[in-house]
Amino acid sequence: MNRITTLELKNMKERGDKIVALTAYDALFAEIEDRAGVDLILVGDSAAMVVAGYETTLPITMEQMLYHCSIVSKAVKRALVVADMPFLSFQISVEDAIRNAGRFLKESGVHAVKIEGGSVMLETVRTLVQLGIPVMGHLGLTPQSVHQFGSYEVRGKDEVEALQLLKDAKLLEDAGAFSIVLEKIPARLAGEVSHSLKIPTIGIGSGPECDGQVLVNYDMLGLYNKFKPRFVRRYLEMAKLVEDAVQCYCQDIRSGNFPSEKESYS
Ligand code: KIV
Repeated sequence: MNRITTLELKNMKERGDKIVALTAYDALFAEIEDRAGVDLILVGDSAAMVVAGYETTLPITMEQMLYHCSIVSKAVKRALVVADMPFLSFQISVEDAIRNAGRFLKESGVHAVKIEGGSVMLETVRTLVQLGIPVMGHLGLTPQSVHQFGSYEVRGKDEVEALQLLKDAKLLEDAGAFSIVLEKIPARLAGEVSHSLKIPTIGIGSGPECDGQVLVNYDMLGLYNKFKPRFVRRYLEMAKLVEDAVQCYCQDIRSGNFPSEKESYS
């Protein structure tokens, strides 16, 4: 089976083939998603919220992300695996970013890293790429800046922010990023950014004109129930299915229906 590479993602954009991306945090889901044909598996720092139950993505650490990344990357055979660099693992200095991004590739076996932020991250992106570490950018609603933004609302709605985002996307491309996530920006702006770049954009809540789409796996499976943004399409109501199954299990044990003779040893 041919591995998806960063080069293949650029070729897919050229051919007009949509890129399918999805998050995963463990080997079981990663294997299923890979088998189902996902092109890019992002080990998102959203793990802080959907796996660990925090309010934001900020608390997750390098060591915790390395653990998630290593169990995902050993399970994946075809998709490109991208590690989301956690808050404060790349912002303090370029040297720090090199060390931490390098650990993701060296210790966890991922193929690339994702970094939130625009022009302020250019030197870091350029240096990592020059050192052979592929970088995915992330613009728009960058969740690590939620306290700066004050909410998880749509970004890039006013002209100043929209123009800055267009500029940042071009600068990230020039710095060598192989792709950019566009999170929760107006569909028209995402279309404009996507058409202005040679590298693929991966949208989340940014409309249909992006070169690919990403969702948090537990959102699209209906497993994460704390809130449901408008951009999430649920393909399953997994939380409900799991709850019903566990209720049946409780009932069977309490009624003496489980285990049966067939489920016991003589
Ligand atoms: O952490 C994450 O899961 C993400 C995306 C969904 C883009 O950054």
